[in-house]
Amino acid sequence: MGYKVAVAGATGNVGREMLTVLAERGFPADELVPLASRRSQGTEITYGDETLKVKALESHDFSDTDICLMSAGGSVSKEWAPRIAGQGCVVIDNSSAWRYDAAVPLIVPEVNADAVAGFTKRNIIANPNCSTAQLVVALKPLHDAATITRVVVATYQSVSGAGKEATDELFTQSRAVFVSDPIEAKKFPKRIAFNVIPQVDVFMEDGFTREEWKMVAETKKILDPKIKVSASCVRVPVFIGHAEAVNLEFAKPITVEQARAALKKAPGVSVIDYRQDEGYVTPQECAGEDPVYISRIREDPTIENGLNIWVVADNLRKGAALNTVQIAEVLAERYLKQKAA
Ligand SMILES: NC(=O)c1ccc[n+]([C@@H]2O[C@H](COP(=O)([O-])OP(=O)(O)OC[C@H]3O[C@@H](n4cnc5c(N)ncnc54)[C@H](OP(=O)(O)O)[C@@H]3O)[C@@H](O)[C@H]2O)c1
Repeated sequence: MGYKVAVAGATGNVGREMLTVLAERGFPADELVPLASRRSQGTEITYGDETLKVKALESHDFSDTDICLMSAGGSVSKEWAPRIAGQGCVVIDNSSAWRYDAAVPLIVPEVNADAVAGFTKRNIIANPNCSTAQLVVALKPLHDAATITRVVVATYQSVSGAGKEATDELFTQSRAVFVSDPIEAKKFPKRIAFNVIPQVDVFMEDGFTREEWKMVAETKKILDPKIKVSASCVRVPVFIGHAEAVNLEFAKPITVEQARAALKKAPGVSVIDYRQDEGYVTPQECAGEDPVYISRIREDPTIENGLNIWVVADNLRKGAALNTVQIAEVLAERYLKQKAA
């Protein structure tokens, strides 16, 4: 016997990818219920070989649903996750609504799968921000090898990380440039087509943006509260795939060879690093792929124990849908198995 699984936000960028990943990985779901807002009720959606009709989240009864994968935005999660969890259904949430709640585990399975055990406090598990998820997968084996003390990261984030309307905005603006139509910026603060924007999410009082703050807080919660993180988050005109240029400072010496060996053994990581033209991975090549790709591993000679790396992953997969499904797999395998047996 398998599980009854709901996907809330099934018509969105992340929700659609969740359905694809659930089907691809053969998640043991006996029944899958796609949910979205009332606007999408009746919309047809693909799940493996099946076509399912979307239902309205607000009228779904969750009392016999085992797991709800949520990607319907922060305000929907704030309101609905406790109600769904209260009906006995475990929520795995993609928004930032629950990530910083001490009673909610924040999980990247390659890094802290054991922390899933804490889901019982609220029946909610949080999935991190896309930029953090790929970063901590890359950091974990290096932290284990030589103890990272400080991380300086600059992100190059694709538009799909901001949802389907943002994805459309890059397309529409790019077309408008070619045909000399007026350019309208709605989802992004400035024009994104043929441009880069040093703002992801809103500004905070200290001058950092909320996306930058999220990377600091989430890396500490998932990996190690002692690690210092300084982030600069930048939106680039790429449809899918986030890249990160990462500078690392360690407590102990670590050579490029030792770092490469540790990364090659690490789960979820693929090292593609040749010091020649094309010897690295770019976002365009990672779309639709599961691994976190690591390239450009090199020593930083300006600090005592320092390395630079380049980290690339599909933000809709490892940054969101894949990570959520991997959490659901841990949950099902370790904690819900008896229920389904
Ligand atoms: N994109 C990423 O890389 C990424 C990574 C990590 C986390 N996340 C998070 O995941 C969430 C979704 O992101 P996305 O990129 O998939 O956004 P999106 O493409 O804009 O999709 C939003 C989804 O939420 C649904 N929704 C909106 N209001 C609703 C309501 N009142 N009740 C029920 N469903 C509602 C939408 O349904 P309708 O179609 O009916 O409007 C749609 O299915 C966000 O919280 C985001 O921060 C995204």
